[in-house]
Amino acid sequence: MSTPIPVHLRVNGVDHHLDVEPRLLLVHALRDNLGLTGTHVGCDTSNCGACTVHMDGRAVKSCTVLTVQADGAELTTIEGMAPEGGLHPLQEAFWNDHGLQCGYCTPGMIMAAAGLLAENPNPTEQEVRRALEGNLCRCTGYHNIVKAVLHAAKGKGAATVTSLSSGSEVSA
Ligand code: FES
Ligand code: FES
Repeated sequence: MSTPIPVHLRVNGVDHHLDVEPRLLLVHALRDNLGLTGTHVGCDTSNCGACTVHMDGRAVKSCTVLTVQADGAELTTIEGMAPEGGLHPLQEAFWNDHGLQCGYCTPGMIMAAAGLLAENPNPTEQEVRRALEGNLCRCTGYHNIVKAVLHAAKGKGAATVTSLSSGSEVSA
């Protein structure tokens, strides 16, 4: 076993100091060390997007990031997206548009979609489909997911879409 390396992660606005093995993937640090199990592991080979989180305001697949690479980073997981007791506008839109069935892919879909909307608040259907290319869903056929993202962007059911990690707010 290699010598543990100290890292500082700021996750959903809370500081964490961990000693981790150099090989520890960020997704495992989030799930196993911090108990944030909303970030899922679907493949571990960077194909499915279930592990998507925001790192310094950008959507990343946390199974492709070593925890030591995230040292000092500001991270947001699905647990940090919704206000206490409420839903993030994207979560509300997924709910309204039946954008999920088993829900396994959903946290990653929402994090990827939030990353898109933070950069492009008014995407076309084509742009949504392209942005979610790296996120696989085995249940829905994608149609309702895309519809939900477009509705969230247009503010149906919610006024704004916020990327908490970047602190930026996107008017719908
Ligand atoms: Fe990371 Fe599938 S678990 S892309
Ligand atoms: Fe089941 Fe997407 S809702 S994998």
